[in-house]
Amino acid sequence: MPQATSLPGTTDRRLAALLTLLSENATIVISGERIAREIGVSRSTVWRWAERLRELGVRVKGQPATGYFLEKVPDILTPDLVRKRLRGSLFGKHVYHFFKTDSTNRVAMELGYAGEPEGAVVLAEEQTAGRGRAGRTWHSERGAGLYVTLLLRPKLSPAQAPLLTMMAGLSAHTAVLAQTGLAAELKWPNDLLLNGKKFGGILTEMHAEPNAVRFVIVGVGINSNQEKFPGELAATATSLRMETRKLQSRLELLVRLLSQFETDYNRFLREGAPYVVQRFELVSSFASGKRVRVDTGMETYLGTTAGLSPEGLLIVKKDDGAMATMISGDVTEVK
Ligand code: BTN
Repeated sequence: MPQATSLPGTTDRRLAALLTLLSENATIVISGERIAREIGVSRSTVWRWAERLRELGVRVKGQPATGYFLEKVPDILTPDLVRKRLRGSLFGKHVYHFFKTDSTNRVAMELGYAGEPEGAVVLAEEQTAGRGRAGRTWHSERGAGLYVTLLLRPKLSPAQAPLLTMMAGLSAHTAVLAQTGLAAELKWPNDLLLNGKKFGGILTEMHAEPNAVRFVIVGVGINSNQEKFPGELAATATSLRMETRKLQSRLELLVRLLSQFETDYNRFLREGAPYVVQRFELVSSFASGKRVRVDTGMETYLGTTAGLSPEGLLIVKKDDGAMATMISGDVTEVK
């Protein structure tokens, strides 16, 4: 199915086709002539693209005279592969892939304004300005994490949209459990932690009228295969690879995440807030009885979490006895 919108910077379909052809015949030498024929480009273009793939970190061996092969199948989220694995699902129709972009959320916002239908998926191997919550940046090392944003057009009021952030956290929790056997901690509203360190986060942004959402984009970042983190992040961040000591397939994780997200999304639209709020309370040990420090941006206080409101807001009993309902802000466990 053709993409609804063409975007500058997305991975050329024929470059992706070259990668798929090489991946499907990994370690087998394919002549430049056959590649050129199958993809519909000249042999010199094949040579140029092989160079380009090398620059992007793909281990392509060979040259025009001998033919080409992949030394190692790369874990690249080529759109053809993703579409194939998600055929028939909401997210298997329009997949936009970038080797490098500033932020998949920024791209998805642009698609939303351009009228792109619900279900578009924006993927990047690397982000140069990955966005995190509260104006922070999201460290997006090439090929090491999952950087994905989904475009949705739900019939929700703007006040209900933040529940999608919590829902995405639950979907990611389920996907990570299925892939690694590890039950991640979910910290309200959107952090995924293992052994107290963060490996995943969700950033939801929307375009809305006062009473109705026009579109919502849900950006998910999951540290999958990082082996270390720079600077201050080293103390607070982790990856699935660091926790499991195993290389993780980003493609499998992505397929699990998007399939689970679709299931959760349909149930949320049918059943409403309780589906998300009740599950979040069950899964997240942060939801109640946790000693925390709260930073709302306006004030900082200590307290104990006391469950979620029916709308999914976190209730905290302050140490002075007053009850506070958090709309946004950061919660940190206090030991
Ligand atoms: C957080 O601060 O916890 C939220 C991080 C969200 C990061 C993801 S990576 C894919 C998507 N694109 C972005 O620019 N941000 C989100």
